[in-house]
Amino acid sequence: MHSDQISIPVLTIDGPSGSGKGTISRAVSERLGWHFLDSGALYRAVGLAASWADIAFDDVESLARCAIETDVRFVDRPGDDPLVLINGRDASSELRTETCGAAASAIAAIPEVRTALVDKQRSFRQPPGLVADGRDMGTVIFPDAEFKVFLTASAEIRAERRYKQLKQKGFEVTLSALLREIVARDARDAGRAVAPLRAATDAVHIDATGLGIGEVVERVLELIRHGR
Ligand code: DC
Repeated sequence: MHSDQISIPVLTIDGPSGSGKGTISRAVSERLGWHFLDSGALYRAVGLAASWADIAFDDVESLARCAIETDVRFVDRPGDDPLVLINGRDASSELRTETCGAAASAIAAIPEVRTALVDKQRSFRQPPGLVADGRDMGTVIFPDAEFKVFLTASAEIRAERRYKQLKQKGFEVTLSALLREIVARDARDAGRAVAPLRAATDAVHIDATGLGIGEVVERVLELIRHGR
């Protein structure tokens, strides 16, 4: 990291899949006028690029190379999730599928893949500030971040949210299968040896079960305005 980057404020929002991190991080970044890093999209993009290139998920060397070489670009779209271009190809909808999430979670357990993505993630720290969404933002990528949130919600609520999101996008899914997949993915993300999903010791915990998006956004903004 460049020394002048250290003075740029960072808010990290870590938590399990479906906790609303993405929506909340994006809303907070818009309110603050800060940049936004969707680190999960980077892992998803590598998983997808690896499957396009027929790279086996146990071929560590090729996966690490794929993580370094895959060009991922986010193009903002007003009122919608950004367009995600992987090596120039629009993969925005494909990236959101649960198959892609599971592939991301599998390759994310490989230390060489994580290392390959460290600098890419840190390069998002640009003035006037950054909101970074992921699993290890506050623990590994930006341990010096001034503001850290660990966002959780019950597995049932998270499965319901995913269900609605995916249905809206026209995917054929069932709630029970999504719940099973979410519980399995949590276990894998929290149980892996490198950068497991866990709260930074200095993170503020927010349980979003029973809270609306707006309420969580306000709590996070409050944290930035007044400290904890
Ligand atoms: O946030 P998401 O569902 O898009 O993330 C997809 C997977 O990528 C997730 O199951 C684990 C992995 N991931 C990670 O290991 N570290 C991150 N900082 C972000 C995502």
